[in-house]
Amino acid sequence: MLRWQWFDNEADVRDAARSMIAAAATEAIRDRGVFQIVLAGGATPRAVYHTLRELPTRWDAWQVYFGDERVLPAGDPDRNSVMAAQAWLEHVPIPPAQIHVIPTERGLEAAADAYRRLLADVGTFDLVLLGLGEDGHTASLFPGHEWGTGPHAPDVLTVEDAPKPPPQRVSLSAQRLSRARRVVFLVTGAAKREAVARWRRGERIPAAAIQCENGVDVLLDRAANADR
Ligand code: 6PG
Repeated sequence: MLRWQWFDNEADVRDAARSMIAAAATEAIRDRGVFQIVLAGGATPRAVYHTLRELPTRWDAWQVYFGDERVLPAGDPDRNSVMAAQAWLEHVPIPPAQIHVIPTERGLEAAADAYRRLLADVGTFDLVLLGLGEDGHTASLFPGHEWGTGPHAPDVLTVEDAPKPPPQRVSLSAQRLSRARRVVFLVTGAAKREAVARWRRGERIPAAAIQCENGVDVLLDRAANADR
């Protein structure tokens, strides 16, 4: 089930996302003492991360994972984990051991293996944040590539020849990203219109492969809507 939530502009999407993240964290920490969140790369998520620096929360209860990572050297500014650190994570007191970066500096296969082992001990995520690419991709699940759907799909996939640079990436599979109490897509800007229209028509784009038991929330701004 998809819940399309339209907002006037990107700032309103950011505010709504911040509120959803805050509510999910409060509930998870109250009920289970831990909040397991999966982060996305991309410009829209980055703008949301900035707003989280001042969140009143128990940061020591957060466990942070990544939905995908680009195969680049440690510290490379194009890595999703470096973006998230600069925008948000290095400004809040989450214990470093609770920020689980996909170690792509070790190479594609080694990084995927390490993250597969790590996730084997992690249950259902509390919240998965995702972006939407102009071609309908999400995380690093691209059209024409393996998405890891179906109950026996591996948790983590290696990606080569990605159409968006860099070509090598590690991605959680659609199956693993769907194992969450809550999934929220952050989608803003006119460049996303076509992908959104295809998704709404029911076309088989990668984003449509994420299917959470509790439904999927898609937060969008007006610019991303071809019909308005
Ligand atoms: C990546 C991201 C990717 C991203 C979307 C949306 O590594 O590039 O994980 O899936 O979330 O492409 O990005 P924008 O918000 O920048 O359009």
